[in-house]
Amino acid sequence: NSFNAEELLAFAISLSKEAGHLIRTGRANLAASISTDFSSILKKNSADLVTESDKATEELVKKRIGETYPHHKFIGEESWAAGEENDLGEEPTWICDPIDGTTNFVNAFPFCCISLALAYKQKLVIGVVYAPFLDRLYYGLAGSGSFLVTPADTPPRQLPLQRPLPLPSLKQALIALEWGSDRRQEIVGKKARTMERLCSEEGNMVQGIRSIGSAALSCCLVAEGAVSLYHEIGCWAWDVAAGWVMVNEAGGLTVGSKGHTLSLLSSNSPDLGIVTPEILQGRKYCCVRAIGDLPA
Ligand code: IPD
Repeated sequence: NSFNAEELLAFAISLSKEAGHLIRTGRANLAASISTDFSSILKKNSADLVTESDKATEELVKKRIGETYPHHKFIGEESWAAGEENDLGEEPTWICDPIDGTTNFVNAFPFCCISLALAYKQKLVIGVVYAPFLDRLYYGLAGSGSFLVTPADTPPRQLPLQRPLPLPSLKQALIALEWGSDRRQEIVGKKARTMERLCSEEGNMVQGIRSIGSAALSCCLVAEGAVSLYHEIGCWAWDVAAGWVMVNEAGGLTVGSKGHTLSLLSSNSPDLGIVTPEILQGRKYCCVRAIGDLPA
């Protein structure tokens, strides 16, 4: 029952690569099936998709974990959707999004990945994010740093923060925000007003806004220094757990909009406020997860 973090990290990396292979194969077989039946991949609407590859990849990950670490617990996006709602307890618990960025996957937009994290005693210890179409592997181990491996980055490149801290001004910021899958008019309207203000406020406008379409990869881009911050409303533990390890280990911060600590399995509440420059300004790195974190 010993907890060997290095060994678990090696297991998570190897499993993520195996999953990445399955994701690539699944993409090759996807085109024919969705052109005949697009409705088969819809969850709540056309901005919320699930494919056979999401399910098959999660099954593979769950099976390998069960075979190798039968006493570990598992929280996964598709298992949760099927009603298997595990708590985050004291035991080692894997948190997995088999394909983060499913819409990108369906559209062959290459920013999608498997996101796999391990929490122990309710703390995140390991994060692995592998983007198979980009061949980018990010991994992090609490207390030991986060790293990036690409065909051009071997040996692994350590990810130190490259952006000044705290963020001196939004004028120096390229930021990542998402539209999300809740497309009710009032929700989208608030997000649109947020983007409008951040893009146009005189003397304090951001350099640009990017919507990557993957929460996990957005966190990794923060860790890498490619964007100054990533702000998201309403995503789930499996979307961000691995990415948070990358951000934290690179010296960044994962915080709520009031600077408070985010909890991994807090509820995905339906309220939403506008994110203003005042909220973002002066933050080091910001990954807001729960909708309820925002001021009314
Ligand atoms: C989604 C993506 C998206 C984010 C959503 C997530 P999925 O994950 O990460 O960028 O805006 O909040 O749910 O559904 O593709 O696994």
